[in-house]
Amino acid sequence: MIHQDVSLKTYNSFGVAADASLFAVAKSVDDLQTILRDQRFASAWILGGGSNTLFCKTPRQPILHVDIPGLDVITEEGNEVVIRVGAGVNWHELVMWSLDRGYGGLENLALIPGNVGAAPIQNIGAYGVELKDVFEHCTLVFRETQDIQVFSKADCQFGYRDSIFKGELKNKTVITEVCFRLQKSNYNLQTSYGAIEQQLAEQNHHLLTPKDVANAVIAIRTRKLPDPKKLGNAGSFFKNPIVEDKTFWKLKESHPEIPHFKLANDSYKIPAAWIIEQVGLKGTREGDVGTHENHALVLVNYGNASGQEITDFSKKIQNEVQKHFGITLTPEVHFCC
Ligand code: EPU
Repeated sequence: MIHQDVSLKTYNSFGVAADASLFAVAKSVDDLQTILRDQRFASAWILGGGSNTLFCKTPRQPILHVDIPGLDVITEEGNEVVIRVGAGVNWHELVMWSLDRGYGGLENLALIPGNVGAAPIQNIGAYGVELKDVFEHCTLVFRETQDIQVFSKADCQFGYRDSIFKGELKNKTVITEVCFRLQKSNYNLQTSYGAIEQQLAEQNHHLLTPKDVANAVIAIRTRKLPDPKKLGNAGSFFKNPIVEDKTFWKLKESHPEIPHFKLANDSYKIPAAWIIEQVGLKGTREGDVGTHENHALVLVNYGNASGQEITDFSKKIQNEVQKHFGITLTPEVHFCC
């Protein structure tokens, strides 16, 4: 369960080389409680699928990899089904499992890298759907006391790529399983996101199923986003910045074509990818680090980039964006240094 000097290269989707001096794997809640009782793991870095983590060469903290399996139906009521999924299950495998059984709800979230246990932490989302739309509850263990608790949707305080696990409870809990409420028929398909509409129109469907929507999402993502198995990356590196009304209209004067999404409180979300492209950094490369040629928000490791090189490159992007737009880009990726 506890190992020394473990290479993390295959445990992070950037594929950077780094070694953990102490590395533990929890395959069950019991394992997890035992490891958490070991004081050496009091400040351990909790690692799921490693698709949102950037490692420095030698992280200071021990690493605790959560690998709890399990995928089953717990209740079926009328048109709905509630499923329970272990934190260590791969997210896309869960999506495909649910679609194979005709369950709807996760189709827009196909091909998101990472494991189920990490999904509530940043309320993963894509193509108009967020985890919170299908979330029922999750079970977690408090790190200090090893107490087990169940958190409802309200308890989790979900926001855009945000939750209580990034705020008040940051580093205080470990999610062990997540339950989702899905539909067995009368699906509530979300197809209004521009790219999905276009893709579905090309495919010319009569009666849409969740699988059709997932296939459209898979087609879009494979066209635009690099496969981490072939080219190291962590999806969106930064969050899309939210700017005030005044700032947005000033930007619109100088860039009339600026893509944007108006939020309820009169602020605007602007695609970070567009901003990075405007400062001339789309598809650029320094050594083995770069921004992807099809998507400026995706930083890629072309081979042997180190965590430090990727960090330096991301800082350069932040500086250029700050200089030209006065906007601060916040990383979505977590730095384990
Ligand atoms: N755009 C550019 N240049 C580019 C790419 C995009 O100008 O190189 C502009 C286009 O105007 C496009 C807009 O940016 O319409 C938005 O692009 P996209 O639809 O790809 O979405 P995104 O805002 O870049 C977000 C999520 C993704 C998610 C997609 C699809 C964040 C930080 N990222 O990206 O999530 O897949 O929407 O819904 O919110 C992730 O979090 O790792 C991730 C991949």
